[in-house]
Amino acid sequence: MIRIVSDIDVMSGISHAKSLEGDRICLVPTMGALHEGHLSLIRIASEHADYVVVSIFVNPTQFGPNEDYDAYPRQIERDADTLETLGVDVVFTPDVGSIYPDGFSTYVTVEGLTEGLCGRSRPTHFRGVTTVVTKLFGIVRPHCAVFGRKDAQQLAVVKRMTRDLNLGVEIIPAPIVREEDGLAMSSRNSYLSPDERRQAPIIRQSLVYAAELAASGVNDASVIIDIVRNKIGESSLAKIDYIDIVDQDEMIPMHDISNGALLAVAVFFGKTRLLDNIILERRND
Ligand code: PAJ
Repeated sequence: MIRIVSDIDVMSGISHAKSLEGDRICLVPTMGALHEGHLSLIRIASEHADYVVVSIFVNPTQFGPNEDYDAYPRQIERDADTLETLGVDVVFTPDVGSIYPDGFSTYVTVEGLTEGLCGRSRPTHFRGVTTVVTKLFGIVRPHCAVFGRKDAQQLAVVKRMTRDLNLGVEIIPAPIVREEDGLAMSSRNSYLSPDERRQAPIIRQSLVYAAELAASGVNDASVIIDIVRNKIGESSLAKIDYIDIVDQDEMIPMHDISNGALLAVAVFFGKTRLLDNIILERRND
C-alpha cells in the first residue's frame, strides 16, 4: 500500500527507519500532474533502490512573479492513484506553509551555471529549485535521486550543488520521454491550444535536424543556431526565448562543437514556454 504523507517529521521518521533497516532510498522530486516522463523516472528509481519516495510539491519559490504558479495543474488524487500502480512506497505532499514557514530566510544558490539559458529569462528560478531540492534531500535523506534530462540545466545545477555541498546523494539522470510526434512530455503541454499543439513538434524536428548536421561535420555553433532559429521560425505561433549550444556540465556557450555539446532551446507557444534539448556529436565514420 502506498502511503501519502504530508507531515515533514513523519516523512523524515519513515525514511530514517527504512535507512536503519538497510534499505536504499531513492527520491523522485516532482511538481505533480504526472505524465509518462515522470513515470519513467520512477521506474529508474525502483531499479536503483529498495524504497521509492516521490515528492509532489508545486514550489512557489521557483516561479517568477508573472509566471504560472496559480495556474499550474494540481491533481494530487489522480497522481497518487497512478503512483500506487507503480509500486511507489511513499508520496510526500508537504504544504507550502510547512516548507516555507514564517521567518524562512535561507536560500541555496549555485553560481555561474545558473546564469545562462533558463536563468536569463527566469533569474530567480534556479535559486528556488536548489533551495527546495536541498530541503527535500534534508527531509527524506535519500541515497539517490532521479532527475530528467529534459531539464538539462536543472540536472547540471542539482549535480553541482550536491557535489559542492557534499549532500551525499547520487544523482541519476533519466532520458527524455516524448509524445509520438516528438514533443517532449511536460505538465505544461496541457496549456497548449489545438493549433499550438499541432505546431509544437517543430521544436524536436529542428533539434534532430541540427544533430544530423553536427553528426555530418558542421561544427560551427552559430551556423547551427541560425538554422534552428530559421526552422522554428517557420512555425507561425512559435516565439523563441533562447537557442544555445553549451558545454553539458558548465552550461557555457561553445563556438566549436567538434568535441560534443548540448543544444538547448526554450520556445513560447502563446504563454506556454516549452523546453527541449539534444546532444550534438560528430559521427565516427
Ligand atoms: P517537474 O517539472 O514536475 O519535473 C519533475 C522531474 O521530471 C524533473 O527531473 C524533470 O526533468 C523530469 N521530467 C519532466 N518531463 C520529462 C520528460 N518528458 N522526460 C524525462 N523527464 C522529465 O522539475 C521539476 O518538476 C521541479 O523543478 C523540481 C525538481 C521537482 C523542484 O521543484
